[in-house]
Amino acid sequence: MAASSTDRSTPAKQLPDFDLVLFGGSGDLAMRKLLPALFRRYLAGQFPPRARIVSIARTSIERDDYLAQVEESSKKYLPAGLDATRWTAFSSNLDYLGLDATNASDYQMLAAKLANDAAAVRVFFLSTAPALFETICRNLAAAQLVTPGSRVVLEKPLGQDRASADQINRNVGAIFPERQIYRIDHYLGKEAVQNLLALRFGNSLFEPLWRRGRIRHVQITVAEELGVEGRGAFYDQTGALRDMVQNHLLQLLCIMAMEPPVSNHPDAVRDEKLKVLRALKPLAGADVDANVVRGQYRAGAVAGAPVVGYLEEKGIAADSTTETYVAIRAHIDTWRWAGVPFYLRTGKRLQEQVADIVIHFEDVPHSIFERAPSSSANRLVISLQPRDSITLTIMAKNPGETMRLRPVDLRLDMAESARTPQLDAYERLLTDVIKGNLTLFMRCDELDAAWRWIDPIREAWLQSDERPKSYTAGSWGPAAAGSLIGRDGYAWHGEI
Ligand code: BG6
Repeated sequence: MAASSTDRSTPAKQLPDFDLVLFGGSGDLAMRKLLPALFRRYLAGQFPPRARIVSIARTSIERDDYLAQVEESSKKYLPAGLDATRWTAFSSNLDYLGLDATNASDYQMLAAKLANDAAAVRVFFLSTAPALFETICRNLAAAQLVTPGSRVVLEKPLGQDRASADQINRNVGAIFPERQIYRIDHYLGKEAVQNLLALRFGNSLFEPLWRRGRIRHVQITVAEELGVEGRGAFYDQTGALRDMVQNHLLQLLCIMAMEPPVSNHPDAVRDEKLKVLRALKPLAGADVDANVVRGQYRAGAVAGAPVVGYLEEKGIAADSTTETYVAIRAHIDTWRWAGVPFYLRTGKRLQEQVADIVIHFEDVPHSIFERAPSSSANRLVISLQPRDSITLTIMAKNPGETMRLRPVDLRLDMAESARTPQLDAYERLLTDVIKGNLTLFMRCDELDAAWRWIDPIREAWLQSDERPKSYTAGSWGPAAAGSLIGRDGYAWHGEI
């Protein structure tokens, strides 16, 4: 279905003058996401006359060599037919500094670079191992680089459990006040998540239906075809629960389930998300067995190509019990959601690369039609990936003489219906940091509440001698995940 609305998109507003200091400047995230995102904002005309990106990494190399490296690594993540002149113009904003983040005296070099620019917004983006967060913040403060208007951006993983997350919060919080801390969850920057907010709070249509009694159950899926992609050592210490559920899936759950905030002020939104996290029914001990399935992929084929099993991947311990798949039946203990199951699932090496939120509405209370379909008729699918779209399934009459019903989809493809290209998650989040908008960043109490719910699940796994359930790469995950939802009389959306 094409959108018939008038597209009132306005050109992006120019950002204020800024200095963005990027720790981890030669890392994967910088090359794959951050620098390409900044370049796209430059192309959109959002860069102010005074914009500087200072990339920091340990090696002392010349700026020109770094620029050549960026050009080489970033280009494959940029639109085809890249205009070399514009790239050169963009890179005139890009500087490089070889600095040992653990050496306090090295920060004088950074101070010299940032001198005389106190008026510009100052952002420190820490795309490093979290073990370095405290040291970097302390050294920045010692070099008097932390100004009242400066901001620090923290990339995940934000802890391995509640205690380590608390330590990060305390250490960074000792230097930067909470309003200057931007904890990134890039799922919150995805266009579809903004759309979910627009759908819920920009329409009066859905609110009366958005509750128990009207919604029967909800599914949130983030399925990946990808495996551990060269991050074996990190992934084996982390697993799907901490890599994906603790952050991305719980954040999607919050946006889906939160009460209407009083405004879109960052704290109004974050207060409501926090209430959802705090209302999650705890899962511990035997409840974990009954409500959580963990899996690990074995060799199989993804998109027609053979792939090795998790245990054969580089960097993975031969007897690893790390989960590459998790499915959870969760409940939110509030008036709005009591009794409505929320099924969450995520995994690597699954059949498709998809992310969506699927809302199944209640059946009609009484069918007047003879051959009514047995399964729930109305469904709303908010799809984040591969395309940002919203699909509402309703029942309609099958053409012909008899009164037979069939499900039909009303589909809105957001990318097709908009005249301006969509922003990638990091484009939005980076510009939000520069503009000083905290709405899409996690507050420390949210992080704490998420870990508080996750830790007992891991605890139960550590106590158990069961291995994760095996599943074939390229399938939809372990059979037990099908039973988890099947026991309640439902099936996972999209599984065939
Ligand atoms: C990251 C995880 O946070 O999200 C990765 O560490 C995962 O393991 C990635 O692949 C998924 O993000 P996206 O945006 O590609 O769905």
